Amino acid sequence: MLFKRVKPLDQILATAEKKSLKRQLGPIQLTLLGVGAIIGTGIFVLTAEAGQKAGPGMMIAFVIAATVCALAALAYAELASMIPVSGSAYTYTYGVLGEGPAWVVGWALVLEYAIAAATVSVGWSGYMNGLLGRAGYSIPAFLRTGPMDGGSFNLLAFLIALVITVLLVVGTSKSAKVNAVLVAIKIIALTAFIIVAVPAVKSSNFVPFVPNGWGTPFGGVGVLGAAASIFFAYVGFDAVSTAAEETKNPNRNIPIGLLGSLIVCTIFYLLVSYGAVGSVGSQPMLGPNGASLQPGTPAMAAACVGSEALVCSKDALAHVMVLIGHNTMGSLIGLAAALALPSVILMMIYGQSRIFFTMSRDGLLPNFLSTVHPRFHTPHILTIITGVFVSLFAALFPVGILADITNSGTLFAFIMVAIGVMVLRVKQPERPRPFRTPLVWLICPLAVAGCLLLFFNLSGYTLTLFFSWAAIGLVVYYLYGYRKSHLANGTEAS
Ligand code: ALA
Repeated sequence: MLFKRVKPLDQILATAEKKSLKRQLGPIQLTLLGVGAIIGTGIFVLTAEAGQKAGPGMMIAFVIAATVCALAALAYAELASMIPVSGSAYTYTYGVLGEGPAWVVGWALVLEYAIAAATVSVGWSGYMNGLLGRAGYSIPAFLRTGPMDGGSFNLLAFLIALVITVLLVVGTSKSAKVNAVLVAIKIIALTAFIIVAVPAVKSSNFVPFVPNGWGTPFGGVGVLGAAASIFFAYVGFDAVSTAAEETKNPNRNIPIGLLGSLIVCTIFYLLVSYGAVGSVGSQPMLGPNGASLQPGTPAMAAACVGSEALVCSKDALAHVMVLIGHNTMGSLIGLAAALALPSVILMMIYGQSRIFFTMSRDGLLPNFLSTVHPRFHTPHILTIITGVFVSLFAALFPVGILADITNSGTLFAFIMVAIGVMVLRVKQPERPRPFRTPLVWLICPLAVAGCLLLFFNLSGYTLTLFFSWAAIGLVVYYLYGYRKSHLANGTEAS
């Protein structure tokens, strides 16, 4: 039944605003767009978590996660180019698999966007606290991290998410110029890190290389566990796919932009992790029984008290610089992260409010939520609800757990998209496809398999949260959207 409520693609395209964007992006601009959207908390902060899970083997984890992303990206780009409307994976699923699956995907995207915004807020607070501490203005310890991470309330993470929400309510949008400057800042910071850290590498720091092995399903440790977490460092590449409509010669330039930005970021990530691991080491913290501790748990927080280890740091790259005696460089890298990360939070909260907006336009969420502010012309109610939710999560949860939850929702959405591409190839082979996934019957199944591999290597704790969230979503759907949806009632959104 639910699978029958499919919204015809032509109707989706007609419901969405008729705007034809100029095709002006070439391969270099697309690659830069991708690099700008990708580099963030993942490399700046989660390097510590990946080290705790995999030790020096985190370098392999970066490659595994990049490969899965490349496969998923090639599938994503086909739907993005066919259905270039807001709502991303939610809209694609509505048009291909039907309302029930679309609702579940939209619900999972809350994890991808809102929880990612919380993750980056916590990452930002780690760098700000480091900067303040080194300048002698530390805030009280209980306000530096959340309750699972040795503190009580992460004040700075809470505040940055609220400030960004206010900016979005009054209508701050992404400016291409500011974005270009921030991309440059991030690239310069990572390059400087590599130049300083790589000469300090000692081969002894790579032994043992995979102290926790490859990992086991639901275990959340080992190389695969680290890959499932560090996947976060690549989230955002879908920005390239969603620019398909504005791209010159998309069939050639979209794969170049997608794979190009993933390759550029992977090279940076490998050099940065090589420099970090090699210069200061990244062996995991062990519990009393000799087993590696889970990051983001009270036991890990307790083991890290007073420790200078990379795996315990909240501002990993700045911390490495300080440990190898480059304090000023540490502060500069901290400053770069503090400047650049808020734009990632902005994009994520923006994306979330627009997905809710689309869902409410379809009648799956109450209509009043998508009210547009008379003066600011922004969906202020949705933005404020999203922002408050993001701030509270940022205040209360550790960065690694938030990243893993984000990944669970993102991987789920990617799986649905790859399935959607195959279904649509069979059901509507004639429909124009500005970009076609190459070797679709190989790439899409591999994308599904790769995403499943990472999904089941998240910790059991993360997966329990994911499935609980999905269950709540289904209840909400049956109580509200199932009856009220415009498709069910034959009413089309205005
Ligand atoms: N990939 C983005 C980051 O690492 C989301 O912050």
